Amino acid sequence: MQLQNQVAVITGGANGIGRATALRFASEGCHIVVADVQADRGSMVVDEVTERGPRAIFVHLDASNKADNEAMAQAALSEFGRLDILVTAAGISHSNYASGDLEVDMKFAMRRLAYVEQPAMLFCDIELEDWRRVIEVNLTGTFLAMQACARPMIEAGTPGRIVTIASIAAKNPDAGPTAYTASKAGVWMLTKKAARELASAKIRVNSIGPGFINTNMTAMLDEIEDVKDELLQSIPLGHKGQPVDIANAALFLVSDQSSYMTGTILHPDGGFFTD
Ligand SMILES: NC(=O)c1ccc[n+]([C@@H]2O[C@H](COP(=O)([O-])OP(=O)(O)OC[C@H]3O[C@@H](n4cnc5c(N)ncnc54)[C@H](O)[C@@H]3O)[C@@H](O)[C@H]2O)c1
Repeated sequence: MQLQNQVAVITGGANGIGRATALRFASEGCHIVVADVQADRGSMVVDEVTERGPRAIFVHLDASNKADNEAMAQAALSEFGRLDILVTAAGISHSNYASGDLEVDMKFAMRRLAYVEQPAMLFCDIELEDWRRVIEVNLTGTFLAMQACARPMIEAGTPGRIVTIASIAAKNPDAGPTAYTASKAGVWMLTKKAARELASAKIRVNSIGPGFINTNMTAMLDEIEDVKDELLQSIPLGHKGQPVDIANAALFLVSDQSSYMTGTILHPDGGFFTD
């Protein structure tokens, strides 16, 4: 019970890594605010948390919206009276990404594959609105959530902990589409900057840069045989990770086990970064 009676806000908590983190934290006695665009899936996670003992609420969040982020932090305070932890797992791989809609993802993948002989044109054909949406959700969304949650932590004198979810794509340009890799590199730098600025308030800020994890976001990679083979060859452990592998890293970063760590990034990636 490493997080007994603490309160964690988890963006993107309705699916995948966010959901696994909500459940892992709940098993340690933590109350959870599940914040996501998907209310139906989010409510199911609320039920799964309460089955484990702690309390939970769902809050509708569009990560790119400042007012939504502020309402999310306020919901934690009005429901639970405190806010100790933020995990920012809300994210999209492309502008039309809707978690669980494999058809939309396949269209995106096929469009990219059509450019395989001409990557320069793939780069030149990126639409501004698509670029903006990915940056707004992944990077601006992380910033807005951090800002909204850091304020009440500072006011209450809470030794808060923030964990951002970046990616191996923060450092490796081949690990995702253009806007995605740029947004994740931004999340990593934002994490380091916030770690320095919030250190005086005793708030620790760290990041996780997962490798390929078995969630809705990577389901489409399993559908194309060549892509799947290439992906597995890039992972020394030879398989994708599970969401709980990332949840365990998040638990470490919000627990006292990592009390002297801030501004770091952990890469649970099956050895991807050993080359
Ligand atoms: N799966 C991987 O291999 C992998 C690898 C590295 C990083 N990541 C990152 O992990 C995070 C979680 O992704 P996942 O793999 O669990 O995928 P996922 O699709 O299962 O989860 C993403 C969640 O974010 C939510 N979301 C999307 N747009 C949102 C918005 N505008 N506002 C609020 N919520 C929104 C979705 O509804 C979903 O619940 C993402 O930031 C992703 O970039 C994933």
